Parts: sequence; C-alpha cells; structure tokens
Amino acid sequence: MSRTVYVNGAYLPEEEATVSIFDRGFLMADGVYEVTSVLDGKLVDFQGHAIRLERSLKELDMAQPMSTEELLAVHRELVSRNDIVEGMIYLQVTRGNPGDRDFAYPPADTPPTVVMFTQNKPGLADSPVAKTGIKVISVEDLRWGRRDIKTVQLLYPSMAKMAAKAAKVDDAWLVEDGKVTEGTSNNTYIVKGGTIITRELSHDILHGITRAAVLRFAAEAQMQVEERAFTIEEAQAADEAFFTSASAFVMPVVEVDGAQIGSGAPGPVATRLREIYLEESLKAAI
Ligand code: PDD
Repeated sequence: MSRTVYVNGAYLPEEEATVSIFDRGFLMADGVYEVTSVLDGKLVDFQGHAIRLERSLKELDMAQPMSTEELLAVHRELVSRNDIVEGMIYLQVTRGNPGDRDFAYPPADTPPTVVMFTQNKPGLADSPVAKTGIKVISVEDLRWGRRDIKTVQLLYPSMAKMAAKAAKVDDAWLVEDGKVTEGTSNNTYIVKGGTIITRELSHDILHGITRAAVLRFAAEAQMQVEERAFTIEEAQAADEAFFTSASAFVMPVVEVDGAQIGSGAPGPVATRLREIYLEESLKAAI
C-alpha cells in the first residue's frame, strides 16, 4: 500500500512526491535529518529530536523551516494517515532549490525543502535480534570532522555497512586514532566490571538522543557510567557490548571482529537497559 508522505506543506501519495534535481540535498548532501521512533502510535523523545534538529540547522546557518509545534503536528498527521503503531518517522530538511548548481550557499530566503515519511516496522520493540545480539566488525572511520551535525552525508556509513555485510556480520564500528567513535548509525558502549563505558560527546560523534536517555536511566538505576573512548581490544575483553539508536533502541553486541563478547549472549546490563528504555519511552511518548 502506498504511503502518504509530506513534501513542503503537502500530504501526497509517495508516487507523487518529488523534489527538484537542483535541490542542494541531492547535489551537495546539503541537508540534515532526524529519525524519531513510534511506539504504540506515539512519538518517542520527539522533543529531543526537535532540539537536535534545531542545533544541526543552526550549525549549518540554515533557518528553522517551521516551529516545533508545527513539526509535531506533521509527525502526528503522518502517524495517523499511515496507521503507524510501531515504526519510524524520517524527516529531512535541505537548503532547497537555488535553480542551479553552485558551491556557495543560495540566498538565505531560498525556501528549504522539507520531506517527511513513515517507516512501518511492526514488532520493532519485540525485536528477535535483541534477544540473540548482533555481530560487528571494525573499520577505519573516514567520515568528515563534524559528526555531531546530523547531515545526510551517509555514503561512508553505507560503505561500512556493506563491508559488514560482506564479512557476514550485522554492522561496523568505526575506529579513529585507535579508538571506537561510533557505529554506522548508532552510539557504542561496552560494560566492564559493572561500569558502562561510552565515548564522551564531541564533534567526533552524533549526540544520540537514545544515548542521552539511556545514560539518564542508567544513572537513575545506580549503574556506573564512564564517558571515555575505548579500543576494539577493550571491547573484545569486555563483559558486554551494545549500541543505541532511535531505530534499534538498546541492541546487544555479542561479537567484535570475530571475538565473542562475554558469554556470547546479550548481557544483563544491556538487557535491563533495553527493558527500562522501552518501558520509560512508552510512558513518556507523545
Ligand atoms: N541514526 N550515531 C550515528 C552516526 C547515527 O546515525 C545515529 C542515528 C546515532 C544514534 O542517535 P539517536 O539515538 O539519536 O538515534 C548515533 C539514525 C537512527 C539513522 O540514521 O537511521
């Protein structure tokens, strides 16, 4: 069945939704995005995603295309029109269509392109993969230096994902100067002696909305958290490993570069954090 999607103020069947070939998002990857999950027909951490969107736009000298209230209304309208119970809403804002190709930004009054669509994922919360855990390989992190801005430049993460597929594993962890930065589309963690270790926030990683929530829940549950970078060798010797993202929540990792982590099954910390995250997110979803 065809989805109803949103393009620049209009709700359209997906087959009729188009953007210009001159769109800066298409020509220059000059755009930012957000992915917000839907549980029980409601938006998880919408406010967090709206605040990060605002920050990404500001960092690129782009104007807010609409107010947070308007953004929320479009999200809700898409959930409703597409009957989404579990899934995601993808939102992309680009610098719009200047009518030609030019490296310089177009005039500030060039209307942005705003696109939103739903992804229906029944069973997202009760994922069978979360019960067995996933396997990762490491690859060198060759992305640009402002990974804190959620831009649509996703070619390198796609290449890393393909390297993972070729190695018959699920994802890749990116490594820079000997330390893990993050996964292709998620923040990474290890657990050693009961302490959760995850890289500190900087320009090197995306400031995950799920990361912020999980660290808050971990602190509330009296778990120890250390924000610092770790190596692949440390991950391989850890008791547990996991990653977080809006689309996977808390996902246990049971193998890194062929080495089994802990018992080879999802560990108690990751399992508990996933439960808490889903429980609390459902409660707070709007
Ligand atoms: N990715 N790091 C990177 C590079 C990401 O692309 C993402 C999210 C995260 C986790 O952020 P959050 O918890 O806010 O989802 C970390 C989204 C889900 C995607 O590209 O589909």
